[in-house]
Amino acid sequence: MRVDLVIEGKAYLDGRLIEAAVAIDDGVIASISSPALAPSSDERVVMRQGQIMLPGMVDMHVHLRDFSQAYKEDWYTGTLAALRGGVTLVADMPNNDPFIDSLERLMEKLEIAARKALVDFTLYCGAPKDLREIPEIRKIACGLKIYPEDYGKLLSIINHLEGDLVVVHPEDLETIMRERRLIAKPTIEDHGRIRPRIAEIRAVENMLRIAGSGRIRLHLTHLTTSDSIMMIASSKLHGATISCDATLHHALLSSDAMRRFGGIAKVNPPLRSREDADAVLNAIRLGLVDAIVSDHAPHLLEEKLRSSYDEVPPGFPGLEIYLPLIMTQIMDGVIPLKTLDLYSRRPAEILGARKGALEPGMDGDVVIVELGREHVIDPSRFASKAKYSPFEGWVVRAEVRMVFLRGVLALEDGEPRIGMGFGRHVARS
Ligand code: NCD
Ligand code: ZN
Repeated sequence: MRVDLVIEGKAYLDGRLIEAAVAIDDGVIASISSPALAPSSDERVVMRQGQIMLPGMVDMHVHLRDFSQAYKEDWYTGTLAALRGGVTLVADMPNNDPFIDSLERLMEKLEIAARKALVDFTLYCGAPKDLREIPEIRKIACGLKIYPEDYGKLLSIINHLEGDLVVVHPEDLETIMRERRLIAKPTIEDHGRIRPRIAEIRAVENMLRIAGSGRIRLHLTHLTTSDSIMMIASSKLHGATISCDATLHHALLSSDAMRRFGGIAKVNPPLRSREDADAVLNAIRLGLVDAIVSDHAPHLLEEKLRSSYDEVPPGFPGLEIYLPLIMTQIMDGVIPLKTLDLYSRRPAEILGARKGALEPGMDGDVVIVELGREHVIDPSRFASKAKYSPFEGWVVRAEVRMVFLRGVLALEDGEPRIGMGFGRHVARS
């Protein structure tokens, strides 16, 4: 047997780092063996000391914008940020302008993404306007994304679904509106009071009741409290088909960041107390959440620096720093090596993609990470158009050196080696 490419070095296999040769042929991992038993290949990459080989990372919650918000991010800059962060599959949210809630809009987005993407992608659809389109939408979208405004529609949608992925943003809108009315002129630091933890807990309770029908695979995104994480863990034990995720900003940052960064650190749901953040970090450590997501939500710096609370859009970019942050936390002994699965294997499984693990039959997505050298996170150098971060100044000790996408060298030392449109739509398997 002769293959296209063999990459040799220390590889993340089955939760451990092992000296191995990963053989890729026709874009797919053909075999994994000890280096001595590797097949002959047209090309051979031998990694250096201090480098490790990981599967391409999978981020199942990003906002790559484009359309009328291309000034915030477009599918080229957003997927270059992904590549630089070692992410080879992104699942993009539907809250574009225009909102993606029909087959037609979904196809428009598919066209833009297919033309510009550097990494592979899947798309969520919002609550569909016309329920008769659901059978067609399900063929294209990886799942539905339900925002707090659309909880009411969920009940009628559910009857048209058959085991589909439904990602829910859990925050109870009534609670939020009531709290908002209590504060005449809020500042950024009131954000956590306006969107309190109880808003999340109520929404999670509500969703867990709905999920019981078994018609959907419910996935609750960006959890921020121990209460909601525990409720979900317990309902999993009782047999519910349900999964959840958390971000690193809710695990590693607290509301203190709002004092330091102002509107830059405004995000939904809000950054919370140190205790809540520790609970989220603990849930990541123990694998109580199924995935880590960046919720990459770029806005222009000017927008984030507006003086009025209501006019500062929530969210910030994360794609290019997530893998370095996770690796650094692993090296610091804060979280186990296995945590890598939460940003690769598990989200790929939830999305139904043949990615996220170094295993025969998976796409030949490989990230070579160099460990050791200290880097200070400098958002002014982001590929994203959103050049700021509440992680600014954090020191990481992991750097993405090379990314292979389906066996093709896609990025080397921060520079793309593939053209716009190399990224492919990943259909549901
Ligand atoms: C998201 C965005 O900017 O698209 N922002 C965020 O703070 N997560 C929207 C949202 O999920 O509320
Ligand atoms: Zn989001």
